Amino acid sequence: MTEHLRVEQRGEAGEARLDPAGPEAGPYVRIFSGVKPTGHLTLGNYLGAVRRWAEVDQYRADALFCVVDLHALTVEHDPARVRRLSRQAATLLLAAGLDPGRCTVFVQSHVDEHARLSYLMECVAADGEMRRMIQYKEKSTREAARGGSVRLSLLTYPALMAADILAYGTHEVPVGDDQAQHVELTRDLARRFNQRYGAVFTVPRAVVPAVAARVMDLQDPAAKMGKSHAETSGIVYLLDEPDVVRKKVMRAVTDSGSEVTYDRVEQPGVANLLDLLAACTGGEPAELAGGYASYGALKRDVADAVVELLRPVRERHAALCAEPERVDAVLREGAARAGAMARPRVDAAYAAVGLLPPA
Ligand code: TRP
Repeated sequence: MTEHLRVEQRGEAGEARLDPAGPEAGPYVRIFSGVKPTGHLTLGNYLGAVRRWAEVDQYRADALFCVVDLHALTVEHDPARVRRLSRQAATLLLAAGLDPGRCTVFVQSHVDEHARLSYLMECVAADGEMRRMIQYKEKSTREAARGGSVRLSLLTYPALMAADILAYGTHEVPVGDDQAQHVELTRDLARRFNQRYGAVFTVPRAVVPAVAARVMDLQDPAAKMGKSHAETSGIVYLLDEPDVVRKKVMRAVTDSGSEVTYDRVEQPGVANLLDLLAACTGGEPAELAGGYASYGALKRDVADAVVELLRPVRERHAALCAEPERVDAVLREGAARAGAMARPRVDAAYAAVGLLPPA
């Protein structure tokens, strides 16, 4: 086993560890997270995840950010659309400020180790624990009610997600709370593998953002602003034109009553707008509420703040689209770097379970 692997095996995730590059490099944390190219990236994705990756995570850790295109095939898909959305997601990650000099940005299917390790995870996981995953239960029940069926890969999806995370010796996985169960399963699989076959994997932990970082649907403040919804009038996409953003914000549902107060239970619509404003401008939602006498005035300021927040991202996205070779080069280098990081650990896992190493 390589030196690199031995260093990472001391203890569970969360502890400061020595960087394989040497103690001078300081505490060593590896982060992995992914975006699934099943829809256009939303303001919710940006405020809940991507902004933090760009502003904080890439500076504090050795971070990998992956467009997890294999996961997009677990539901019915249009090949051309997946291809287009994958490229767009990668371009948007760069436009949002991920710096390929500081972190690794790549596409999952460009690195074979994910699929290679996923199979071993399927051999460690039990059928029952996969069927207990909430997302699987919800989606498969919904499909069954419609007389349809789900793909087998929807059931095995968490094995692939575990492989994504474990291939890199990841310590921290920044994800939304809807993914916490999958990370919990990943921890179980890592521990089980290590116990049965020897210490190969680091046990990662989920890092879930504070509630305030969750942006809710403008038409349905009880639902997360997700990218796979059919009804899109309450969802702001990162690439929406400014006038479309304004229209969506101005039409956001508010609550009966007319006073602007910050009350997530009684006034969830207004609270969501105040959360959004706070996320854009850096203020406190409860304090910001005091500055408004009407819903209309609040909505106008939210619209302006969101448009201003997204302006530089849209501009950088347009610039990158004009230089597709630049994006290609980033993804090529990212995949090469990621592959080199993952391969020794996946090779070690293959050897540990008893597969004959190629001579
Ligand atoms: N399942 C995640 C989602 O739907 C995407 C994902 C796949 C992911 N692999 C990952 C997230 C690994 C974090 C780490 O959002």
